[in-house]
Amino acid sequence: MQRFNHIGELRQQLHCWRMAAERIVFVPTMGNLHRGHLRLVEKARDHGQRVVVSIFVNPMQFNDKDDFAAYPNTLVQDCAKLTEAGVDALFLPSVEVIYPDGYQQSSKVVVSGLSDILCGEHRPGHFIGVTTVVAKLFNIVLPDVALFGEKDFQQLMIIRRMVDELCFPVEIVGIETERESDGLAMSSRNGYLNAEERQQASLLYRILVQAKSQLLLGNENLAVIEALAMQALQKGGFRPEYFSVRNRNDLSKAQGNAQDLVILAAAWLGKARLIDNICLNSG
Ligand code: PAJ
Repeated sequence: MQRFNHIGELRQQLHCWRMAAERIVFVPTMGNLHRGHLRLVEKARDHGQRVVVSIFVNPMQFNDKDDFAAYPNTLVQDCAKLTEAGVDALFLPSVEVIYPDGYQQSSKVVVSGLSDILCGEHRPGHFIGVTTVVAKLFNIVLPDVALFGEKDFQQLMIIRRMVDELCFPVEIVGIETERESDGLAMSSRNGYLNAEERQQASLLYRILVQAKSQLLLGNENLAVIEALAMQALQKGGFRPEYFSVRNRNDLSKAQGNAQDLVILAAAWLGKARLIDNICLNSG
C-alpha cells in the first residue's frame, strides 16, 4: 500500500492508473478503523482495480471542538488493517492540505433541506462539513465509484443528493451496516462506552427492531411508536435525541400506511452519541 500526504503526488499515481484503464474505487474515512470500515474496503474490490482509502478527521464536520480533539487516532493499527485488506493507496492529508486557509475560510458545499433535519438539527453545520470534505476528496481522487455505509443513512442520502444535483461523475454505493453480535452497530464512538454502558448499548438496535415489527404488524400510529421508543430508551439509560419513522426516498415524515420506510434514531449513552437505523420493505 502506498501512502500519500499531498494532493499532487496522489494525483500523479491516480493518473497512471487511469491511463492504464483501471477503475478507481474510493472509501473515505476518519480512521480508527473497525470491521464496518473494512467491509467497505472489501466490497470496494468488486467495483474496480484500484482501491483508494482516505483517513482524514475533518474539523469542519465537528460542531463540538472537544469531540474533534478527542477523536481516536489509531493510525499504526489502521495502516496494518488496510495493508492486509490489499488497499492500493492511502491518502492521509493534514488539515492544512485540505484547508490551506483554515476551514472557516473555505468554500462550502451545502445540500439544503436534507442537511437540516434529524442529525442536522442536533448537530448544526455537521453535514455542511461532510459534503464539503467529500466534494473536495472526490475532486482530488476523481473516483469512478465511492462507497459509504448505510449506518450513516442520512449522510449517504445527502451525498447521493450532492452527487446527483452537482453532477459529480461518481457512482455511489451504499453498504449494509456491520454489527456486533448483540446487534450494536459498529462505530468508532463505541470506544467511548464503559463496560456497563456497552452492555446497555444494544438496546438501541433492539428498540429499532421492535418498532419495525410494530409497523410490519400494521400499527399505523407512528407517533405512538416513536413516543414509546423514546420512553424505552430513556428507561434504558439513554438520552435520546430523536427516534423517527421516515420515508426512505427523501427522509420526510412518514404517514401511517406508507411504504418504503426507514426508522432512524440518535441517542446519547454516557459520553457516546450513537446513531442507528433500520429499513422496511428493503426487499
Ligand atoms: P467514518 O465515521 O470514519 O466512516 C467512514 C465510512 O464507514 C462511512 O461511509 C460510514 O457510513 C461507514 N461505516 C461506519 N460504521 C459502519 C458500520 N458499522 N457498517 C458499515 N459501514 C460503516 O462517515 C465518516 O467517517 C465521515 O463523515 C466521512 C464520510 C469520511 C467524511 O469526513
